[in-house]
Amino acid sequence: MSANGSATLVGHPALRDHWYVVAEGADVTDAPLAVTLLGDPYVLWRSPAGEVVAAPDRCPHREAPLSEGYVRGGDLVCKYHGWAFGDGGRCVLVPSSGEGRPVPPAAHLPVVHVEERYGLVWLCPGTPAARIPHMAAEDDPTYRRINSGVEVWRTSATRMTDNFLDISHFPFVHTGTFGIEANVLVPHLDLEQLDDDFYGYQYEVDVGNTVGVVASGLDAPVVHRRMSTGFNLPFTVRSTIHYEHGLDHLILLCATPIDDVTSYFTFVVWRNDDFSVPADEVITFDRAIGAEDKAMLELVPGVLPLEQTATVSVQSDRASVEWRRRLAALLT
Ligand code: FES
Ligand SMILES: [Fe+2]
Repeated sequence: MSANGSATLVGHPALRDHWYVVAEGADVTDAPLAVTLLGDPYVLWRSPAGEVVAAPDRCPHREAPLSEGYVRGGDLVCKYHGWAFGDGGRCVLVPSSGEGRPVPPAAHLPVVHVEERYGLVWLCPGTPAARIPHMAAEDDPTYRRINSGVEVWRTSATRMTDNFLDISHFPFVHTGTFGIEANVLVPHLDLEQLDDDFYGYQYEVDVGNTVGVVASGLDAPVVHRRMSTGFNLPFTVRSTIHYEHGLDHLILLCATPIDDVTSYFTFVVWRNDDFSVPADEVITFDRAIGAEDKAMLELVPGVLPLEQTATVSVQSDRASVEWRRRLAALLT
């Protein structure tokens, strides 16, 4: 419970039944990886079958953190007494008992749901209540996927999602990238189901292009974009950008609560460009945009209250208001 008596965000049991990005697949190689999700520590490793396994970061023997151990031939080995865990978290060796001796049934790790999708590792600590949002571009060979890496932001996943759904901060926060004064006025936003997995709005906008020439593929001071922005509960946002010359730039923004006020952030880009520009150059612009949001959000303390009356919203906040309404309903 927090100081004012309300439950913490990450303590809500309903949040456990959703998928969260905790790493990139490329981060899970030949060593155990420690991550924290909804306040709980987990260990990830790649088993003999090449699958990522995720389990609470606690050895069933004497509770040593398994992430302090090592991986041997795909088995996760505990640093304390050398118990080893293989595919599906099964305990395959208790050295003190000798090879081939049966292990106690409770020695197997209580693994949690894990999926590798879009180059990301998704965890669901409970029972999945919904699928990982579908990105059709992943299966379309005219698109390439670019992963950004996973960062830690000192802010709540609620503030991040609210920010990703909000276009009214662009001229104020994104002054070093694409924000321009002409965009201060936000047009009326009609909310709609954008597809099976995302709910939000579509709009057209002119944005500054001085820094984003590589991202837009255009050499003009201002470029026109047709965009959509939508959410997938609890904390995933998709932004789609369509330029008039046919280029699509799709961004999946993932916020994962480490705890109430710390979060993982990663984004994934899909683009139907000619693949000639190096991936890193393409997302330099998006990284710079993310850094502007991070700097702003880390100034704002605490969790964004889900009670609508706790903060003042205006018409440009319609998507965020609807997201908060649905998130509050999911948590009750
Ligand atoms: S605590 Fe892990 S093997 Fe003993
Ligand atoms: Fe932003």
